[in-house]
Amino acid sequence: MSEDPHAWETATRLIRGGTMRTAFNETSEALFLTQSFVYDTAESAVARFNGEEPGYVYSRFANPTVQMFEDRLALLEGAQSCRAQTSGMAAVHAALMGLLRAGDHLVAGRALFGSCRWIVAEWLPRFGVETTMVDATDLKAWEDAIRPNTKVFLIETPANPLLEITDIAAVSKLAKAAGAKVVVDNVFATPIFQKPLELGADVVVYSATKHIDGQGRVLGGAILGQTELLDEAYRDMLRHTGPALSPFNAWVLLKGLETLDLRVRRQTETAAVLADLVADHAKTQRIFYPFRKDHPQYAVAKAQMSGGGSLLAFDLGSRQAAFNFLNALEIVDISNNLGDAKSMATHPPTTTHRAVPEAERLAIGVTEGTVRVSVGLEDVRDLSRDIARALDAA
Ligand SMILES: Cc1ncc(COP(=O)(O)O)c(C=O)c1O
Repeated sequence: MSEDPHAWETATRLIRGGTMRTAFNETSEALFLTQSFVYDTAESAVARFNGEEPGYVYSRFANPTVQMFEDRLALLEGAQSCRAQTSGMAAVHAALMGLLRAGDHLVAGRALFGSCRWIVAEWLPRFGVETTMVDATDLKAWEDAIRPNTKVFLIETPANPLLEITDIAAVSKLAKAAGAKVVVDNVFATPIFQKPLELGADVVVYSATKHIDGQGRVLGGAILGQTELLDEAYRDMLRHTGPALSPFNAWVLLKGLETLDLRVRRQTETAAVLADLVADHAKTQRIFYPFRKDHPQYAVAKAQMSGGGSLLAFDLGSRQAAFNFLNALEIVDISNNLGDAKSMATHPPTTTHRAVPEAERLAIGVTEGTVRVSVGLEDVRDLSRDIARALDAA
C-alpha cells in the first residue's frame, strides 16, 4: 500500500487507522476475546517471550483488538505510541507512577478532577513523592514551585469543572528548562481540539470513558507519547501491574473513535449556543465556557484549542438554586459523567469534587451554586428549551 496513514486527515484516521484484518477479511474490526495465545513449537514460545519473534503472548501485555484501538488513537493524537488502560484514572495513575521515584517532586494545577487531586495530594506522598499544587493559570506560580528534584508537571486543561485553561506551551517550556516531564490530562479538550504533544508536552492521558466512547457504555483510558519514553517509563510497570484494557472495551472504543470527530463537533456547536443562553439569563451569576470572550483565559484557549468543547459551567448563586435547576430538567439527565451523547448536568461540590476540602474548592471557584453541563447530541432547540425552563426554576 502506498498510502501513509500519517498523511490522512482526522476523519480518515478515525475510520481507517490501526485496522488489522484477519484472514476472513471482515469489514468491522475483529474482537479477540482471548486471554492468551498458542505457539506452534516450544522454540517459538521461547522466541516470543524473548521478543525475538513477532506475535502475541498474553493479553495483559498486548492483544490485537486493544492494539487496533491504541494504534488508531496514537494516529489521531500524532503520538508514536499509545498504551490503553482500564480507566481514565488507571491512565493518570500509571502515567505519574512510571515517571516518579521516592524523593522526586511533582507540580500540578490545583484545579483538578477530584480523583486526580487525591492521587496528587494523598497517594503520591505515601511513596515519598513531594507534591505542590499551584494556580495553573499563573505561570510565575509554576516557575516558583520548581525545586531541584522536580520531575513532573501535571496539567489538566480545560480543568474539571470550571474549564480553567493552562498555557501548555509556556508551562512545557518551564518544565523543559527544569528537566521535568509534562503530563497533560486532555479529557475535556478531546484529541479533536487540542494536541498537547505539539505544544511541548511529553505525555497525554485520556479517560476514554468520556467522548471516545461517548455513548455511556464502557470504561477505558490511554497514555500517549514517544515510543522511547513510553517503553522506558511504562513498559515493565504495565506488564507486571496489569491495568490492561479489556479487548471488549477496546472494541467498543474503536467503534467510538469512528464517530468521535462528528460527535464532538456537533456537541461543541450546541454547547456554544447553550453557553450564550445561560449567560444571558438573569439567574446566572457567572458563566464559564472557554470560547466565550468573558472566559478569564479566553486568549490562551483560542491559541491552543481549535474548538471550545462540549462542556460549560455556571454559578447560580446557591446550592438551592443549583438543585432547583437540576430538578427542573426534563431532557438533560442529572449525572456526573461527561462526553456522552446524552446531555448531563451535575453539581460538582456534592459529587465529583466532594472530596476536595471546602477552602480549596472555594479557592478554585467551585461554589455551592456551581453547575456543570456536558452537552450531548440532542437537538439544540430541545436542549435550549429544557435549560431555559430549568434556569427559570432556579
Ligand atoms: C479530567 C478527568 N480525568 C480523569 C478522569 C477519570 O476517568 P475514568 O472515570 O475513566 O477513570 C475524569 C473522569 O471524570 C476526568 O474528568
